[in-house]
Amino acid sequence: MSDDGLKKIISHAKEYGFVFPSSEIYDGLSAAYDYGQLGSELKNNIKQYWWTAMVRMNENIVGIDAAIFMHPTTWKASGHVDAFNDPLIDNKDSKKRYRADVLIEEHIAKIEAKIQKDVDKAAARFGDAFDEAQFRSTNPQVLRRQSEIDDINARFKAAMDADDLASVKALIEDLGITCPISGSKNWTDVRQFNLMFKTELGAVSGDSGVVYLRPETAQGIFVNYLNVQKSGRMKLPFGIAQIGKAFRNEIIARQFIFRMREFEQMEMQFFIKPGTQEEWYNHWKDARIQWHKALGLGDENYRFHDHVKLAHYADAACDIEFNFPMGFKELEGIHSRTDFDLKQHEEYSSKKLRYFDPETNESYVPYVLETSIGLDRMFLAVLSSALREETLEDGSERTVMAIPFALAPVKAAVLPLIKKDGLPEKAREVLAQLQLHHIVQYDEKDAIGRRYRRQDAIGTPLCITVDHDTLNDDAVTVRNRDTMQQERIAIADLNAYVDGLVSMTSLFQA
Ligand code: GAP
Repeated sequence: MSDDGLKKIISHAKEYGFVFPSSEIYDGLSAAYDYGQLGSELKNNIKQYWWTAMVRMNENIVGIDAAIFMHPTTWKASGHVDAFNDPLIDNKDSKKRYRADVLIEEHIAKIEAKIQKDVDKAAARFGDAFDEAQFRSTNPQVLRRQSEIDDINARFKAAMDADDLASVKALIEDLGITCPISGSKNWTDVRQFNLMFKTELGAVSGDSGVVYLRPETAQGIFVNYLNVQKSGRMKLPFGIAQIGKAFRNEIIARQFIFRMREFEQMEMQFFIKPGTQEEWYNHWKDARIQWHKALGLGDENYRFHDHVKLAHYADAACDIEFNFPMGFKELEGIHSRTDFDLKQHEEYSSKKLRYFDPETNESYVPYVLETSIGLDRMFLAVLSSALREETLEDGSERTVMAIPFALAPVKAAVLPLIKKDGLPEKAREVLAQLQLHHIVQYDEKDAIGRRYRRQDAIGTPLCITVDHDTLNDDAVTVRNRDTMQQERIAIADLNAYVDGLVSMTSLFQA
């Protein structure tokens, strides 16, 4: 899918009540969005899937809900006040502002696309005999391009590690990167820009009252490490999970809900014995990719991307990237954060944040493995892989949102075939029985075919029709969104039937 694909998703999301531009009657606010009646249900279901996988299914992971405002020293200790910056650069002709690292990454992506083209061409030429790994490691053109990428990465990493912004600018100039708007290479110097939003607490003004809107939920977990460990009598290894809002004053906030200034994160910090971080890094990489793949959005839509430039707190880090309409982009981060955060908080708070290990009789600061996924990006991943235009056997068209059944905002629609003969009353009985367990809609307006289309467009897995036979046989016809097959089900068995298809349990049995 292309940018065009993204436009379709944005307009479908608005038309059907998934996502609206924030405060739209005032022409909206850049990079802020509101989740509508269906969007908030889908969001809740994604949260529930994550919370179940992390907290409910792991006896050594517990969840918390920390405040968004935190003592300002938290952010000094975490490094965010000094280092949570993006290098930005302006094009003097278009007056557009860019992240320098993004310009470089996009340049690399173009070279990667050329490599992929070479690989695809060779694959087509050699057919079944093609060995991709061998081709990539021997083809001179691919090797030259790969070494070009490695050189760029190395130069960029060295410049950023040394905080040498002049070299970042020189790299952009040497690569001949042009502004996508003006096409010119007329760049300003690169500057650092802190991404945290500042506000003031109560009536205090000036520096003493400054608080930040948290740029990640993780620090709320770190400052509660000891509270949770002691009150929950937690033994290492153990994890603390949290879902909540985070705020970043992104320089370029675009691509719909992919990059916003207010967004939600689902983060888990896993506290471990120092020295075991590699084992747990691999464990969480596996666990998280499995969580994604169980949804059935297509295994080919995920890939790992190792970080070249590690964040100030990490000794290893990778992203799980998803094939969004704009291409493969970061969906989730997995970071081996060492003991950086807890040690920093020890230093700044003068409180011991240790773990007494009863097995070794030692006291130490645990290491931390973090998994951090953006809820809104996950929402976009689901939406963008779900939206399809299909031509049916009879030549008619349908727009269907093939959202995984367990995540669908509305699980079923109850539809009386016609609006009389006691069918609406019977249908409402069926509705009442299902509503105890799921979000279910009732719809009696228009011909049945049109009602099916409306439900397809919002991703409802099951349409349940109450017809004249229902009054005699106490059974209904259930139509499956994806197969469009219909099955006759006794009303007495309906709850179990619906549950079997839409419950989240199935995602954990895959
Ligand atoms: N605690 C670690 C941390 O915050 P991150 O890679 O900066 O790491 C984690 O963010 C995840 O949060 C990202 O993988 C992404 O899904 C999401 N995220 C980050 N910035 C975002 C933004 N501006 N809009 C939407 N989601 C964002």
